[in-house]
Amino acid sequence: MSKIVVRGGNKLHGEVNISTAKNSVLPIIAACILSGDKCIIEEVPMLEDVFVISDILRSIFADISIDKSTNRIIIDTSNVKDCDSCSELVKKMRASFLIMGPMISRFGRFKLSLPGGCNIGTRPIDLHLKGFSALGAEVNIGHGYVEARAKKLVGNKIYLDFPSVGATENIMMAAVMAEGETIIENAAEEPEIKDLAKFLNSMGARITGAGSGTIHIIGVKDLKGSIHKPICDRIEAGTFMVAASITRSKIKINGINEEHLKPIIAKLTEAGVYIKVQGNSLIVDGNRDLNPIDIKTMPYPGFPTDMQSQMTGLLCTVRGTSIITETIFENRFMHVVEMKRMGANIKIDGRSAVIEGVDKLTGAEVKATDLRAGAALILCGLAAEGETEVMDIYHVDRGYVDIEKKLKGLGADIERIQ
Ligand code: EPZ
Repeated sequence: MSKIVVRGGNKLHGEVNISTAKNSVLPIIAACILSGDKCIIEEVPMLEDVFVISDILRSIFADISIDKSTNRIIIDTSNVKDCDSCSELVKKMRASFLIMGPMISRFGRFKLSLPGGCNIGTRPIDLHLKGFSALGAEVNIGHGYVEARAKKLVGNKIYLDFPSVGATENIMMAAVMAEGETIIENAAEEPEIKDLAKFLNSMGARITGAGSGTIHIIGVKDLKGSIHKPICDRIEAGTFMVAASITRSKIKINGINEEHLKPIIAKLTEAGVYIKVQGNSLIVDGNRDLNPIDIKTMPYPGFPTDMQSQMTGLLCTVRGTSIITETIFENRFMHVVEMKRMGANIKIDGRSAVIEGVDKLTGAEVKATDLRAGAALILCGLAAEGETEVMDIYHVDRGYVDIEKKLKGLGADIERIQ
């Protein structure tokens, strides 16, 4: 197991380039199944989750070549078969459930092991299955598996009880070749949804309204291969914005999309951080007297849950009382007990964390419990007095390319120890 060791206190300076978005690339790789053709995805972040979903597609006989020198993935799904060979792999990563929609669309049936929950919540799939059923699939759950069968998928109007990102993506992919029109209401509006729809439309799909709460899909006969460059990773960008803020430093972040960062820019600005957007870059200057703020995580365009742990870490270093309320996942405060080992003063009250800022965090041995919590603990280590060891760093590697190299490039005293 590798760990990351951070010796806190350094100011950051210089520039960092943001990778493309993991949460855009994963559904897009799944969507390649629909083409039965060759697709090329450019500038793919070389992340563990990308390798896992690639192995899952290989297990159903897709031919995938990953060129790490150009960050290009070529995916040929012409030989993909409806088989149950990938179930074990699916347990490694929840997002692999995103192949369900494309597989029942292309083959009229598919069986997968139920994706497990994870540390941040039970992660149900009821809304995914509600959508498949509404399109005419017969869905059965038993023995830890879920199977969907449909002689023919027929368009329908589907209302999502919650604007689930994954359910919106899975249903969209199941509907693109269904007969007639599908309307998804109360759909997720995240930028990654829009990016997936853009890719599907480049393959010949007819999707409008992606990125709004209502998505219209007119079924088409078939889809063709395409080439696509995914959007930038707004959560990685936000993570580096917090890195500058928690170390009270000024850095430049390149390869961002201002529109996607609005809620993060708004809340950091409210906390007193100076942020200036320059095209697809932004200057973040955290070297100011910051003030406490309250945050409530919400579906996009609200404040993203994937930035909650990073902001919790920042607000631990801001004098005064801040309150962060997590409304998306039922158990996304595991980083709090780790931050308290570093001297943070946080009380959990139901779905809220009440944070009393302290003058100094102190380095400690802490554990990453999920991808974003791990990133947040590294950020706390940057500001803490002394040395912080973040264990179980594999969580972080799922969503951040070379995080320690990027931070080292900004002047952090940080290293990975295998
Ligand atoms: C996506 O997960 C992201 N993952 C998550 O990012 C992100 O935190 C989440 O969206 C919310 O923005 C990927 O895109 C691969 P949801 P997803 O379905 O699709 C409930 C990261 O750190 N729900 O929007 O699984 C669910 O319990 C990861 O990169 C149902 O009730 O999220 C949760 O409370 C973590 N029934 C809420 O919706 C369902 O059928 C949000 O889940 C599906 C979801």
